[in-house]
Amino acid sequence: MTLKPGPAAINRYRRFFVGLFLILLLVTTLIIYALSTGTYEGDERVHMPILLDNLNRVPEIVIKPDLPISNSRNPQCSYYDCFNVYKCGHKGSDKILVYVYPLKKYVDEQAIPIGSWMSQEFYLILQSIIDSRFYTPNPDEACILVPSINTLNQNRFRTLETSQALASLSHWKDGENHLIFNMVPGSGPDYNSVVELSLGQALIAGGGFSSWTYRSGFDVSLPVYSPMAAQLDSQQIAAQDRPWVVVSSQINIHPEYTQELAHLAQEHSELLMLEACPNMQSSNYSMRCRGDEVYHYPQVLKRAKFCLVIRGARLGQPSLMDAMAAGCIPVMCADSLVMPFEDVIDWKRAAIFILEENLNSLMEVLSSVSDEHVTEMQVQGSWLYQSYFSSINAVTQTTLEILNDRVFAQRARTFEDWNLPPNPLAARSPLFLQLTAPRSQGFTAVILTYDRVESLFLLIQKLSKVPSLNKILIVWNNQPSMIPKIDKPLKIIKTTANKLSNRFYPYEEIETEAILTIDDDILMLTADELEFGYEVWREFPDRIVGFPSRTHVWDNVTMHWKYESEWTNQISMVLTGAAFHHKYWSYLYTTAMPGNIKEWVDQHMNCEDIAMNFLVANVTQKAPIKVTPRKKFKCPECTNTEMLSADLNHMMERSQCIDRFSAIYGYMPLQTVEFRADPVLYKDTFPEKLKRFNDIGSL
Ligand SMILES: *[C@@H]1O[C@H](CO)[C@@H](O)[C@H](O)[C@H]1NC(C)=O
Ligand SMILES: *[C@@H]1O[C@H](CO)[C@@H](O)[C@H](O)[C@H]1NC(C)=O
Ligand SMILES: *[C@@H]1O[C@H](CO)[C@@H](O)[C@H](O)[C@H]1NC(C)=O
Repeated sequence: MTLKPGPAAINRYRRFFVGLFLILLLVTTLIIYALSTGTYEGDERVHMPILLDNLNRVPEIVIKPDLPISNSRNPQCSYYDCFNVYKCGHKGSDKILVYVYPLKKYVDEQAIPIGSWMSQEFYLILQSIIDSRFYTPNPDEACILVPSINTLNQNRFRTLETSQALASLSHWKDGENHLIFNMVPGSGPDYNSVVELSLGQALIAGGGFSSWTYRSGFDVSLPVYSPMAAQLDSQQIAAQDRPWVVVSSQINIHPEYTQELAHLAQEHSELLMLEACPNMQSSNYSMRCRGDEVYHYPQVLKRAKFCLVIRGARLGQPSLMDAMAAGCIPVMCADSLVMPFEDVIDWKRAAIFILEENLNSLMEVLSSVSDEHVTEMQVQGSWLYQSYFSSINAVTQTTLEILNDRVFAQRARTFEDWNLPPNPLAARSPLFLQLTAPRSQGFTAVILTYDRVESLFLLIQKLSKVPSLNKILIVWNNQPSMIPKIDKPLKIIKTTANKLSNRFYPYEEIETEAILTIDDDILMLTADELEFGYEVWREFPDRIVGFPSRTHVWDNVTMHWKYESEWTNQISMVLTGAAFHHKYWSYLYTTAMPGNIKEWVDQHMNCEDIAMNFLVANVTQKAPIKVTPRKKFKCPECTNTEMLSADLNHMMERSQCIDRFSAIYGYMPLQTVEFRADPVLYKDTFPEKLKRFNDIGSL
């Protein structure tokens, strides 16, 4: 749904009303500008162009002078006593549902609008709610209701009439669960830090709250939105390429602080102090001057490491958003200001705070911040800006997400989720498994076989004795002969082509999460060893867990990677001729192997296990796990097919695989560890009866 105007107004008078309205609008705007210029709070306005296209077709509501108003804002409100949580979770919904009232234009008896009924920013807020996952068109199932009466800018509406309009809303009930958006609160000369309206129990999403007016856990603190920030391109400028340490660019600073800053600027040439340009129109906000030098605003903010954001006549300042958009670290000097989205954002990671009375120590404070910390704060600030502040839509969605997290606290994001940029290299396991996988499922053994029928039959019989075996899957490219009878399910998959990658196909017959891939000639593993291997996999379900291990080393003579099968203290690969892995990796191997690795492996009948180790290590950034002591494996990598003998060529090819794969990945993902898992009582002199795994390490 989009915001569509209601039924057409009386056509005959339409032009007349539109004309009249435009004239009145112009007059009010001029009066407001006239009132707000000429004093030091000249910058105290947020530019909100009026959207004209829908004005003439929206139903008009007349506010009569005797209409009742709600109680005044209840300063004691908290989530627990003013918010009706029973309106949420309607019909088992697992998120808040938000209703937006239809557009109406409120005028007084002289047909004069009671405020600027629509502005671009307010329109975008409403549209953003309607487009969000929280929107409901049904007020009866809504958890939160949003009036479409523009309350964004206190300078632009009449307080009494707007309060009356709110109280007249069909579901208002003294503001219960209503959300009022405001970005410019209070009017002169006192400039209250909260919107002045009779709001009863309503929640306020407001810019420029002070700790005295903000009802923690109930209201939402918004940024004072700055349309100027959008003029900045997204090009990031590193701290060392910024000539100034700090810039002071606001032109509405209190005279007392202006003097203080002028004094500091005299002593410190790295402080750029800008003021309004003397011979420009005072309404031209894109220019700043220092003496005769003229600077473009907000572009000048990209030339300083730190940007001062200081209390003006109003507590909250749009310059905070300008600084963040410019990648300039905000230095906050507004003591009681509640920072935007302060209940979820950790501002200490992205801004410097300085008490107003300590403004004179500004330069000492900033010089004590290390270069490293400057870079960290810059990166964090840019990320916060992009995630939560960069558009009206981002601000609105963040507001709704915060409210949603309060209502559905059990599913709320953590402080880390809100504050840590997702880091692709510190990759998390995509498997979302419990820390330890459940034992009950067991594992599926997938045997890739090459017609070594005799050893295959022996292997099947051996495997059938492993307690956690759930099923055997034999991947066979020939017509199978008679298979021995065992008491576990066994299924044969006939393949059309003799491909190594068949071993990693996520066959639907695999019903367990764990897969044991095993070659048909691996007869030396005991049932105890296999069962123990599965126990270890349960502890490390995102890794390859298995028996024969290898490592990779950098050869600084040939300048190439070398595959190492000698006994070393380190391992970085576990061969998939006998290893457990999660079915997810089979799925990734089949669908998301980078470059032409998969095709290359199938053509050359080699290195499928190295490819699998690369794949898992790249996603998890972890090493595989080796289980139980070394055994005389009959060179498993040489036995993949009978056509290939254990020749040197084959081994050399494996070194080349490592070179080739790391080039495709663009780096070396394999991780080396000195770690092996053995049963707890392994090698302890202890009665065998009492040991769970006895047959371990036999040759
Ligand atoms: C402000 O000054 C700049 C540079 O002189 C000019 O390009 C711009 O149009 C002016 N803006 C306003 C609103 O007067
Ligand atoms: C190559 O590695 C060996 C052993 O680590 C070392 O002694 C030697 O100095 C290295 N050579 C070069 C050219 O780096
Ligand atoms: C490595 O893993 C990351 C994280 O899962 C993924 O985004 C990236 O595409 C992988 N690289 C390659 C070359 O597959």
